[in-house]
Amino acid sequence: MLKSMETVIEVKNLSKVFYGKKVNGESKEIWALNDISFQVNKGEIFGLLGPNGAGKTTTIRCISGLLNPTAGAIYVKNENMKYKSSILRKSMGFLTENHGNYESLTVSDNLSFFGSFYELNNLNERIEGVLKELGLFQRKDMKAGKLSKGQKQRLAIARAILHNPEIIFFDEPTAGLDPVAAVNLRDLIKNLKRKDRTIFINTHNLEEAQKLCSRVAILDEGKIKRMGSPSDLSKELWELQEMVCTLKSNIIPQIEDVLKDIPMVSNYTIEDNRIHFYSTDVNESTPVIVKELVKHGADILEVKRKVHSLEDIYLKLMDNQEIEGS
Ligand SMILES: Nc1ncnc2c1ncn2[C@@H]1O[C@H](COP(=O)(O)OP(=O)(O)OP(=O)(O)O)[C@@H](O)[C@H]1O
Ligand SMILES: [Mg+2]
Repeated sequence: MLKSMETVIEVKNLSKVFYGKKVNGESKEIWALNDISFQVNKGEIFGLLGPNGAGKTTTIRCISGLLNPTAGAIYVKNENMKYKSSILRKSMGFLTENHGNYESLTVSDNLSFFGSFYELNNLNERIEGVLKELGLFQRKDMKAGKLSKGQKQRLAIARAILHNPEIIFFDEPTAGLDPVAAVNLRDLIKNLKRKDRTIFINTHNLEEAQKLCSRVAILDEGKIKRMGSPSDLSKELWELQEMVCTLKSNIIPQIEDVLKDIPMVSNYTIEDNRIHFYSTDVNESTPVIVKELVKHGADILEVKRKVHSLEDIYLKLMDNQEIEGS
């Protein structure tokens, strides 16, 4: 039996307005978030994607109680943040855009200082544990300012997970890291995910979101344009699905004659030894296509469904301004 998802974060009609500099006695309103609603399920890695200034950091800051919403409500573990923020914050950990370590303190002292806010009775053990988990134990006595960028990022994550939070927010976790450090950090994030731990990532790195996130919301100018798993978004945005069939040799004219008559295929294109088939349901059409091709003497090397990447999805959404939010 399919277990129903448990909602851990619920954002309801959230708006956040900032007031810019006064011009002619009136301050300009900046609608950083404009009536957004979404839910995050327990145990998932959820991604909030969007260009610079879309409102990603503001969303995290509102959810964590650092900013008061202008309108709307936020529930964490079914409790209203407005009334319970100090208790609920104890179940959250944050990696902020600027890591926020104290550079003149050692690695250990940074953790002792931040850990002291959580009233942990086994703080020293926890510190040792997270330093080992994040590969920083050898550097525990080094000043945080002397660490490399990737190590600083890991120290900030160590701080974020010290109190074993149920929800961890990562704001642009791999920004500015080299490719190897970024891959290592992504592995670490995957390892932090557990059945009872939810991870919320802000990113404009689409490949990162594709690799990590089970569901994403695409935010632009304070509004959610789309939300769902990458494959659901792909289905919503492309009416026709694509299947690519590679033959052993180039397509011969006889085969081309057959292609036109294959049922369920709306359209096809050919490039060298590859045929791209477009149909409303590739699960239905693919066996028929394969049978027809084999019957007419085609040697098939590979049959693959084309999966649209998050990058394809994102670019299509950003291009297509008339597509409205879900
Ligand atoms: N404290 C503030 N005062 C005024 N305006 C603000 C404030 N914080 C954010 N904004 C504005 O709100 C909008 C959303 O900003 P936010 O930092 O949430 O975007 P973001 O999606 O995190 O962008 P980035 O990818 O660049 O980090 C921007 O127009 C920003 O200028
Ligand atoms: Mg941001």
